[in-house]
Amino acid sequence: MYSWLVLGLVAAAAAAGYDYESDPDIYHNKWWGPEGMEEDTSIRPFKVEWKKKMVEDLLYRLKNRRRLTPSLKGTNYNYGLNTDTMSYWLDYWANNYNFTAREEYLNQYPQFMTDIQGLSIHFIRIVPEIPEGKYSIPLLMLHGYPGSVREYYDVLWDLTKPADNRDFVIEVVVPSLPGYGYSDATNLVGLGFAEMAFIFKNLMNRLGHEKFYVQGGDWGALIGANMATFFPDIILGYHTTMPVAATDEALTLITAGSLYPAAVVPTELTNRLYPLQNTLEYFAQDFGYLHIQAAKSDALGVCIGESPTSLLGWFLHLFSIFSRRTNGNDPMGGLEIYSRDQIIDNLMIYWDTETATTSIRLYAESFNKKTFRSGFLNAPTTVPTVAVQALGEIFYFPPAALNTKFTNLVAVDVLDDYGHFLAMEQPQLFVELVLSGLQRIMQFNKQNM
Ligand SMILES: *[C@@H]1O[C@H](CO)[C@@H](O)[C@H](O)[C@H]1NC(C)=O
Repeated sequence: MYSWLVLGLVAAAAAAGYDYESDPDIYHNKWWGPEGMEEDTSIRPFKVEWKKKMVEDLLYRLKNRRRLTPSLKGTNYNYGLNTDTMSYWLDYWANNYNFTAREEYLNQYPQFMTDIQGLSIHFIRIVPEIPEGKYSIPLLMLHGYPGSVREYYDVLWDLTKPADNRDFVIEVVVPSLPGYGYSDATNLVGLGFAEMAFIFKNLMNRLGHEKFYVQGGDWGALIGANMATFFPDIILGYHTTMPVAATDEALTLITAGSLYPAAVVPTELTNRLYPLQNTLEYFAQDFGYLHIQAAKSDALGVCIGESPTSLLGWFLHLFSIFSRRTNGNDPMGGLEIYSRDQIIDNLMIYWDTETATTSIRLYAESFNKKTFRSGFLNAPTTVPTVAVQALGEIFYFPPAALNTKFTNLVAVDVLDDYGHFLAMEQPQLFVELVLSGLQRIMQFNKQNM
């Protein structure tokens, strides 16, 4: 029964390419900048520069923070944070974080700005030297929330190095999402994850890439999936650490599978999804952030944007629940897998740019009726896809469900450990997975040309 069901779904999904032109709200040249602004289409070098005044003000706030309410005995991270262990991060930020060295660190990669649809977009771009006999392929890498381009800092040099055992070298383009870090935010309503797909296509076109590969996690995964859905002839392959198929068929399949899991999910992975009650309990317990961020973005943004302690608190809570599902029971929230510099560099990007509110608006502009009515989530894509599924990743979709969205699911790499911020947590493994994923996609393309 299972196989004809899947076959039927795949057949139903076979028509490639979502007709976004019937949906003017997400059309590709929409202007998101101030009215009457001249667009500067030049590509301008950019460096992070932390003003002395900003750093002094930040240190004042960190050193004059208010008393933290003691956590209840034995609750660890189950109430969202454990204030008994927050000084591990706060004291380091206030006393030992080397602003000069970290600013240099963030400037180790070539960064640029260019205007797209009225917004200045910040991006890292590494154009590698191409050894004799090799060729370069363009890869767009998209971060999410509460991340930034910093998520990829531990992998970019390795990812762009040539190697003897493959004939391609990767050129990476790693932009900050609009409203995040050093990219402009819009002052207009409606810039969600569908609209961002157009901005990044236009960015890649600006850089001379007519066709390219996309890699992403978190929002980057969802934006990348939208790009694959809208532009099947432009996106050569899609690699993701957070594969999501929010199609009606996938949701029906997953629900039906609660009666007979073996029909839907590989046996050894059953407990990633079933009993469904566990998954629902997990959502109820850990997904409050998503509802508040989507429903009342600005209320939360104001509350966490005014104080470094508040911003750190919200981010630690998210890094904790996104990294392992059992982290609530750990006194440190399981966060010692990250270095303090990793966590604080990422915070600095939000703090310096005052983007606590504009970043969260992406939830409000995406998890809304417009998205659910417009139908692109249901639209399949033929773009060859390789998915990585870490144990601690926040969503799990079995291959049968993923097939309803990604009709050319080339491979699924299942990891029996690790979490949502794979590039930060396991840089070497991440590099291997992206390289081998791209290789398999290229092989698929060659065979299906
Ligand atoms: C901070 O980093 C800078 C630049 O790397 C270095 O010169 C300086 O000695 C460091 N300061 C401390 C206190 O370690």
